[in-house]
Amino acid sequence: MTTYKIAVIPGDGTGPEVTVEAVKVLKAAAGKFNFKVDLTEFDFGGERYKKTGETLPDSGVEELRKFDSILLGAIGHPDVAPGILEKGILLKARFELDQYINLRPVKLFPGVDCPLKDKGPDDIDYVVVRENTGGIYTGTGGITMKDTPQEIAVQSAVYTRFQVDRCLKYAFEYARKYGKKARGKGKENTLALCGKTNVLTYIYDLWERAFHEMGAEEYPDIKREYYHVDATCMWMVKNPEWFDVIVTGNMFGDIVTDLGAITQGGMGIAAGGNINPGGVSMFEPIGGSAPKYTGKGVINPLAAICAMQMMLETLGEDKAGAKVEEVVRFVTGNKLRGMGAGKMGYSTSEVGDMISKLVAE
Ligand code: IPM
Ligand code: MN
Repeated sequence: MTTYKIAVIPGDGTGPEVTVEAVKVLKAAAGKFNFKVDLTEFDFGGERYKKTGETLPDSGVEELRKFDSILLGAIGHPDVAPGILEKGILLKARFELDQYINLRPVKLFPGVDCPLKDKGPDDIDYVVVRENTGGIYTGTGGITMKDTPQEIAVQSAVYTRFQVDRCLKYAFEYARKYGKKARGKGKENTLALCGKTNVLTYIYDLWERAFHEMGAEEYPDIKREYYHVDATCMWMVKNPEWFDVIVTGNMFGDIVTDLGAITQGGMGIAAGGNINPGGVSMFEPIGGSAPKYTGKGVINPLAAICAMQMMLETLGEDKAGAKVEEVVRFVTGNKLRGMGAGKMGYSTSEVGDMISKLVAE
């Protein structure tokens, strides 16, 4: 029987309480689908930072490298200045573990409230592949003549062909395996590049050339489309059904995935994976730590459960992953119908219990 070594970082605020539910479902899936999980918890987060001044130390990165996967709750603490924990923990893990893909499904589950008029689960069913270790996030920069009227701040977006190619390769492969045709939901598997070739004529020129070269040579079966990022936002609202798989750079990906999240029912549902296809990946609900709700049992654990579901698929436990998704869809469609912020009708742990029970059945 396979045993997966999973690092769990519950993190701050409501992170721990949603992580407990995701772990509950993970254990239920392991029992049902005959694999084992060996869990190790790490206390990286705001409290540890306040006590020790440490975010994610280098020794922590080395520890994390030994695991098959990482499950993260949430990072962010009201007493810690913005940027310290994000850069020191989340971004450090992404960069050091070379998690160069941020995979963000934008799927509206049945029964979930959607802010888009007349759109349902068949319309909002796509995935964003965001480049996760380059662009403005890791470009060089600095400030000179600080606090003078002549102050200059520079933060450059940098992409190498290598970074672009490996991200595109992942996106094309993903479109081939999980695109709408592959899932029996459409006539073609389509990959759309989201860029800004009309203004960022260096960066997105590189992306666009690499996209068409790779597509023509290695993925002629996949339809290629291009959208500027501003137009992408418009169509994500007006015609989300046009999209299948979208690939984009780090900064644009950060922005469009929050837009996508709100169209799929918001932060209680949206999950993401920081993926190193040849290494250790990390999965997280994208909702944040919501400190003022800590301990109240009102936060929807579905996002954390969906993050865990993505982890199962990435580990190769496809059957278990499919089962968890099926159960989540059943629960949103039948038990939590019409839920919106604060309207779940069940507590955080009741939702976790309900899902684990159905997964184990
Ligand atoms: C995300 C988040 C992070 C990002 C922050 C917290 C550093 O917004 O995962 O999308 O910008 O990537
Ligand atoms: Mn973001």
